[in-house]
Amino acid sequence: MSNAEITKVVQQDKENCWHHLTQHKPFDGDANPMVVVEGEGMRIKDANGKVFLDAVSGGVWTVNVGYGREEIAKAVYEQLKKLCYFAGSAGSIPGAQFAEALLDKMPGMGRVYYSNSGSEANEKAYKIVRQLAHLKGDGSKHKIVFRDRDYHGTTIGALSSTGQFERKNQYGPFAPGFVELANCNCYRCPFGKEYGSCDIECAHALESLIQNEGPENVGGVVLEPITAGGGVIVPVPEYFPIIREICDRYDVLLHIDEVVCGLGRTGKWFGYQHFDFTPDMVTMAKGVASGYAGISCTVTTEKVFDQFKADPSDRMHYFRDISTFGGCTAGPAAALANMEIIIRENLLDNVVKMGDYFQDRLFELKDKYSIIGDVRGKGLFQGLELVKDRATKEPVDESVAAGVAGNCGKEGVIIGRTNRSFKEFNNTLCFSPALIAGKSEIDEIIDALDKSFASISA
Ligand SMILES: Cc1ncc(COP(=O)(O)O)c(C=O)c1O
Repeated sequence: MSNAEITKVVQQDKENCWHHLTQHKPFDGDANPMVVVEGEGMRIKDANGKVFLDAVSGGVWTVNVGYGREEIAKAVYEQLKKLCYFAGSAGSIPGAQFAEALLDKMPGMGRVYYSNSGSEANEKAYKIVRQLAHLKGDGSKHKIVFRDRDYHGTTIGALSSTGQFERKNQYGPFAPGFVELANCNCYRCPFGKEYGSCDIECAHALESLIQNEGPENVGGVVLEPITAGGGVIVPVPEYFPIIREICDRYDVLLHIDEVVCGLGRTGKWFGYQHFDFTPDMVTMAKGVASGYAGISCTVTTEKVFDQFKADPSDRMHYFRDISTFGGCTAGPAAALANMEIIIRENLLDNVVKMGDYFQDRLFELKDKYSIIGDVRGKGLFQGLELVKDRATKEPVDESVAAGVAGNCGKEGVIIGRTNRSFKEFNNTLCFSPALIAGKSEIDEIIDALDKSFASISA
């Protein structure tokens, strides 16, 4: 595209598009919205010709195998020529093939249900909980527990199950039947305990919550394996096995939201696989096809699936759900090619190695700058929590985190941060570079951070 054509595109964007999570008032003046025009590997180029290292895989943890993967584009092209779409009430070649390949990575899981966003995949899981409450009883076992720092999506049901005050504010009233559980952030333990001398109160709190709500009313628990947008919170090893045991005891379905961690981000295929348990349902979206096509999956055990089997003359006893674009074949075609790349290039191993290297380098920064209160994460999914004072752990104002991210942008590195999600804890910087990241890219991210922290400490 010529410069004149790109200038026209920016104008078209400015006059016609409504961007996500964006206040447009500044664009009434001379400021222009960012328009991204190209990507290759881990770098993107904007309409001004500025090249950035993308340390957040497409801004929101998505382009896991990096930009410009011709083989995914070709797989999608070939599939679209053959068959672009048919409703998900029927199967398709890539849909069948990807489901088998995916389940091969998820021992204990049995079925894949396709839709087209993380929010939607979660809504499907909620509908499964609620319908099962009717199929197995009188419908009362419908309540779904979520955690106060987790995010599960943007639709009203998914937002009702999200615990982030500012993210939800002004969008109520919310759907009833969602109940909030405290988070498991050891850095700010909601129970005032310390790991090592605690009884994993954060996990046991689920049992008290179920008892308070009445076990006959609680049908599901939805948890991120590692809380993402809520501040990169990694549970302690004991956490999920305790949660699993409580769910079993009260006949509650355990749903793990892998929309961010799914497909390699943490160094295993799924975030939950770092812990010793098997979920009942797993949802995934972003990294499934690395953004080359829209796709999400709600994966269940065969046991969950089997409960929907009945005499076909029963008009109510099957999953009466549909997702029009869940029938698009581009998604599973891209997902298959994406998975092949992860396997062929040993990207899970790379994530483990580079994740360790990245975390070591973040700890070096922590030694240097007292504004860094906590370093946490797994694999190529890391966070830095910023504080005014290490002793009191008072969080910095969101504007400080925004300033650090802005300075990194000036250095040519795009990083993420908890963004207007909470009343006070919008103080975590987030990093999720593509799974192909090498030492030089990690060093580049660290250098940008170093300069940025140095400029605000000066
Ligand atoms: C953990 C988690 N679940 C669900 C979603 C919603 O996914 P989508 O934006 O595709 O609807 C997100 C999006 O950021 C997420 O981080």
